Amino acid sequence: MNEEYILVAGGAGYIGSHTVKKLKDGGYKVLVVDNLVSGHEWAIKGLQFENADIRDRARLEEIFSKYDISAVMHFAAEIAVPESVQDPLKYYSNNISGTISLLEVVKKFGVKYLIFSSSAAVYGIPESGSVKEDAPVKPVNPYGETKAMVETILRDCGKAYKLNYVCLRYFNAAGADPSGEIGESHNPETHLVPLILEAALDKTPLKIFGTDYSTKDGTCLRDYIHVNDLAEAHILALQYLKDGGKSDIFNLGNSKGFSVKEIIKTVERVTGLTVEASFNPKRDGDPPILIANSEKAKSVLGWEPKYDNLEEIVETAYRWAKSKKS
Ligand SMILES: NC(=O)c1ccc[n+]([C@@H]2O[C@H](COP(=O)([O-])OP(=O)(O)OC[C@H]3O[C@@H](n4cnc5c(N)ncnc54)[C@H](O)[C@@H]3O)[C@@H](O)[C@H]2O)c1
Repeated sequence: MNEEYILVAGGAGYIGSHTVKKLKDGGYKVLVVDNLVSGHEWAIKGLQFENADIRDRARLEEIFSKYDISAVMHFAAEIAVPESVQDPLKYYSNNISGTISLLEVVKKFGVKYLIFSSSAAVYGIPESGSVKEDAPVKPVNPYGETKAMVETILRDCGKAYKLNYVCLRYFNAAGADPSGEIGESHNPETHLVPLILEAALDKTPLKIFGTDYSTKDGTCLRDYIHVNDLAEAHILALQYLKDGGKSDIFNLGNSKGFSVKEIIKTVERVTGLTVEASFNPKRDGDPPILIANSEKAKSVLGWEPKYDNLEEIVETAYRWAKSKKS
């Protein structure tokens, strides 16, 4: 058992809570810091927890003084792309000011390692279907801008201070822990898999945006990656830094694209339910195709996604969605 804490900011949220569970299972001591704005206490039952907003620097200093923290995993953010267009200041305030406040305290307390939740949104509308880390960073909405800005801030802090960091650019996180204890629970939900499951279970119509993209069936293609595979990548990234690896950026996806219609069909197959869809015009800033090239994470971090099959991802999400309903 390692005696130092890993501080997980945003650890009561969807991806954070799965990572926290994996850290605990791996024998790490974990401290969750979350303001519960969208996270849940049920997701971190029995864990060391400090209810705090990362923009509250004084409160963070108190926490960093109280615990011996060796590394930070930073998930805390506002995450809904459409909302970021309507209310950009909410995003710049939380995602940028929050990160700066956290970094100031990380610097003050000499914490050497940080893993940051970045996003495929930094690529905007990529030129090629399968995106590598050296593709141009050209976000097309405030949410993506905040992720790109934090990457820049980390690059400069990494050069100036004794901070080693990894930015993990997730593609579309999906699925839930097979235990059925934790899963995705956003309000409002904006992610496709839980939205389709909700439509199937509640018999409500699902809105599909864009059916005339230049893809095989006219709907957008995305890369779905299981939340536990993302969690595993965090642990590997931390180990990589502790072993002396240099600060870097990695894509995390399954390197396979599925269309919205294919996801609906898979949900229908897995659940035996039908999904009624309503067709709506494209949304601004939705790329037709967004698929990861994750070779770098595989070769450098030794990461290998275990859920490379869409059925399995949907099955775990379905198990969770049903238990949430009951
Ligand atoms: N879900 C995805 O598909 C996806 C894809 C790419 C990147 N990401 C990034 O991964 C991270 C986690 O995403 P998620 O889906 O788990 O989101 P989430 O909303 O479930 O989790 C975010 C957590 O951060 C907490 N939080 C927010 N602001 C805070 C603050 N100021 N102080 C303390 N806690 C705060 C929330 O209460 C919540 O528990 C985010 O940074 C998100 O941008 C997510």
